Amino acid sequence: MPQGTFVRHDPRASLPAPVSSVAHLYVQHCAGCHGFEGAGQPAFGVPAMRGVLGHFVRSEEGRAFLVQVPGVNNAGLSDTQIAELTNWLVRTLGGASLPAQWRAFDPAELPALRAARPADLAAARRRILADLRAAGVAVPD
Ligand code: HEC
Repeated sequence: MPQGTFVRHDPRASLPAPVSSVAHLYVQHCAGCHGFEGAGQPAFGVPAMRGVLGHFVRSEEGRAFLVQVPGVNNAGLSDTQIAELTNWLVRTLGGASLPAQWRAFDPAELPALRAARPADLAAARRRILADLRAAGVAVPD
């Protein structure tokens, strides 16, 4: 008896190519507050990240701060996911704020950076921005 032709339907066949997994992480865990373009909601205390984020990687404290904020720390992501997501974020949104040389995040340094979270992150942010301004970097509020 001849076998009938079995056509397997792939429900994904007509979808566009998937976005990278880090972009997916951003959409899933971050975009709700920060917006798809990183514009944030400054009126509600969510800072704009586009064209600003690169300034933070100019200092050790600023660089650490990027992975110490609650939205990153409490997202339930692995050290590897946080390192990849933050590197992607800094590169994607940094724009003109990104220095020519900066040290990308390595998953191996995440446990120490997370453990060293300042008790008062808002004060740490103010200090980081004040230090950058004192060094002549034009950072917005
Ligand atoms: C519930 C809303 C919310 C979510 C979700 C969230 N964030 Fe945030 N994020 C904030 C707020 C508010 C700040 C300002 C600092 C603070 O108060 O924690 C901030 C600050 C930041 C900063 C520092 C920028 C600056 O200028 O201070 C980074 C980097 C960041 N978030 C990344 C992320 C990433 C990556 C994710 C997803 C894994 C994420 N956030 C998820 C609300 C959120």
